[in-house]
Amino acid sequence: MPTAVTEASFSTLAPARVQRAAVVEAGVRVRIWDLPTRVFHWSLAASLVGLTATGYAGGAWMAWHARIGSLLLALLLFRVVWGFIGGRWSRFVNFVPTPGALKRYLRGPATPEQDAGHSPLGALSILAMMAVLLGQAVTGLLGDDGGGFTGPWNELVSSATGFAATALHKQVGQWLLFALVLLHVLAIVFYRVVRRRKLVRAMLDGDKLLPRRVPPARDDARSRALATAVLLACLCVVGFVTGF
Ligand code: HEM
Ligand code: HEM
Repeated sequence: MPTAVTEASFSTLAPARVQRAAVVEAGVRVRIWDLPTRVFHWSLAASLVGLTATGYAGGAWMAWHARIGSLLLALLLFRVVWGFIGGRWSRFVNFVPTPGALKRYLRGPATPEQDAGHSPLGALSILAMMAVLLGQAVTGLLGDDGGGFTGPWNELVSSATGFAATALHKQVGQWLLFALVLLHVLAIVFYRVVRRRKLVRAMLDGDKLLPRRVPPARDDARSRALATAVLLACLCVVGFVTGF
């Protein structure tokens, strides 16, 4: 069994010992996705399933749709904050590519850093997904479906804007989002089948098996406590501005 390299052990053990402990036939096992990033990811995916089900059910389910939409907004806000203070590979600075890095990546081969965290192309699709999700939350909160349901921010805008927001939400946003999620899942299947990379496993247990050692993400009790506090603050802020 490969031994996981945690940030604590990485910094306290002698490098040679770390290498002996961590290097196995298949590569080096390194913590890449900290627990808060993984919880964020699967909560986001579950919220999207809930939003699709309640959005299509309509009627009395719209109250739940709006609540889950606000929860998703809080998750997005959390991820933005975590993108600055989270584990190494969850920070924007370590995965949002510059145009130059994107060009070099497309010409190949990938650097060890690009192998470790999100690839530059993956990063772009992830940012697009998060932007469309944000758009869906905002158009939902502003919207008026003409059937008796209005979002909590609808009174701040004209009724024409409210109807336009719902039209965007239903006719543009949802399809854009479904297309991006489909692309996301197909990209992961491509990596599994063609590149033989088990990306899903890393999003479950946090660790990747890499050809070369890279610094691991911090994922200890203190960083998890910090993430919990940040998430609670995000829930309070979103609860306050949406009234849920
Ligand atoms: C259903 C809606 C989904 C949404 C909205 C979504 C969204 C995201 C986002 C935002 C990230 C970036 C995570 C971060 O840095 O915080 C991500 C990464 C990832 N997602 Fe999803 N995801 C969804 C479904 C799935 C499913 C079903 C799978 C498994 C088949 C999956 C597997 C992954 C993996 C493996 C990564 C990491 C990719 C990498 O190594 O670069 N996702 N996803
Ligand atoms: C945050 C992410 C959100 C996503 C991904 C999402 C997704 C969806 C989907 C898939 C539908 C079904 C569209 C259809 O019937 O063709 C829908 C409908 C709708 N959503 Fe959302 N939604 C989100 C947030 C919200 C929020 C926060 C609100 C309001 C507070 C909201 C209000 C509505 C309304 C009014 C409808 C139309 C229901 C009807 O047909 O009468 N949504 N949404």
